[in-house]
Amino acid sequence: MRTSTVQIFKTARRLLTGAHASHELAREMQQLNMQRPLIVTDRGVSEAGIIDTIKEQLQQAGITELEIFAAINAEPEMAVVKACRQLFVEKSCDGIVAIGGGSAMDTGKAVAVYAGDDRPLVELFGEEQVRPRRYPLICMPTTAGTGSEVTNISILADTAAQLKKGIVSNELLPDVAIVAPELTLSCPPSVTAASGIDALVHAVESYLSNFATALTQPYSLAAVRKIKASLVRAYEDPECMLAREEMATASLMAGLAFGNAGVGAVHALAYPLGGRYHLSHGLSNAMMFVPVMRWNQSSCPEQFVELAKAFGAPDSIQTMAAGDFVIAQIKELCEAVNIPSTLRTFDIPESELPELAVAASGVTRLLRNNPRELSLNDIEAIYREAY
Ligand SMILES: NC(=O)c1ccc[n+]([C@@H]2O[C@H](COP(=O)([O-])OP(=O)(O)OC[C@H]3O[C@@H](n4cnc5c(N)ncnc54)[C@H](O)[C@@H]3O)[C@@H](O)[C@H]2O)c1
Ligand SMILES: [Fe+2]
Repeated sequence: MRTSTVQIFKTARRLLTGAHASHELAREMQQLNMQRPLIVTDRGVSEAGIIDTIKEQLQQAGITELEIFAAINAEPEMAVVKACRQLFVEKSCDGIVAIGGGSAMDTGKAVAVYAGDDRPLVELFGEEQVRPRRYPLICMPTTAGTGSEVTNISILADTAAQLKKGIVSNELLPDVAIVAPELTLSCPPSVTAASGIDALVHAVESYLSNFATALTQPYSLAAVRKIKASLVRAYEDPECMLAREEMATASLMAGLAFGNAGVGAVHALAYPLGGRYHLSHGLSNAMMFVPVMRWNQSSCPEQFVELAKAFGAPDSIQTMAAGDFVIAQIKELCEAVNIPSTLRTFDIPESELPELAVAASGVTRLLRNNPRELSLNDIEAIYREAY
């Protein structure tokens, strides 16, 4: 854990939480002086009726001039960001409201910085490559989730390179994040499961990160406790508001933790699975979760004790047993929400594992956060274990 360097805690400038927080959207838009916002969302979220309800609320508040962009696929591609930006410019929009899971929020975040920039989109990838954001940005998650509403990253698929790439900049931190659990009530169980496990990976990886701090670790542990207590309930009983509230808060807490401490090798090894085989972000992470934890287990036994307690182990748990306890809990949760446990389930050819390892070894931005170093051979061995 980092203790001796100056740290800045990054989050959205304003953060609204709690049941029915979505009713505050109109007021927040007015405070940001948005006259002609572009709502960035996706088909599934629109079909769930969320956008109609919000449009009605906005109209009642006198906000009638708005544009909607809903042509986003899960795991957004660069072409989608370009199309969304074109609509923003054509319709002379003056702000972005991203409503959806990580796919819609990451698209909205990218467009918010790209709309005022004439350079090709590829030039925005990497760390702090973007220019100051000219347009206000509000994010409202409908999954629990990615935590993207409070992070400074937008992840896009570069289809030509078969890779997922990140735009990383504090300019992507929204002006306002509204975490309204009611928006997650319509999430189908498969999305609840995959995005819930993603949130758990954020919590665990941020806790173990080399860049974890005294401010991030309590959020990581609280998120683990909440996900352990509520994910299965939200999966089995989608309309249980209490479980949805707990998961929405857990996802936010995990986002605050990883948005500052980073995630590690689970995410680094998951990226190529999304880029090449289009596994969803949550599923890709779930595939790598147990094998990477087995690898990390010996490097930070004390941290595994704290994680084990957050998963419900007795205070007396010994360091030797803690890693195995955490791994067993992760397996149990994934099974309870019907997430497959092996890569072979997805028809990924075993012969391609070495290429995956090469791709993952290039994700140094995340690998450097991981508590135990990994060589190319180690990464390939972990993929084999996951197979
Ligand atoms: N920027 C970040 O910090 C960050 C962090 C983690 C993941 N991500 C990115 O987020 C994306 C994944 O996001 P996700 O897991 O939230 O899924 P998603 O946004 O891809 O959504 C998955 C599916 O669920 C549907 N959906 C979402 N909310 C719904 C609702 N309330 N009711 C009905 N249907 C709903 C969508 O229409 C979509 O079909 C990936 O592209 C990943 O790379 C970003
Ligand atoms: Fe993630």
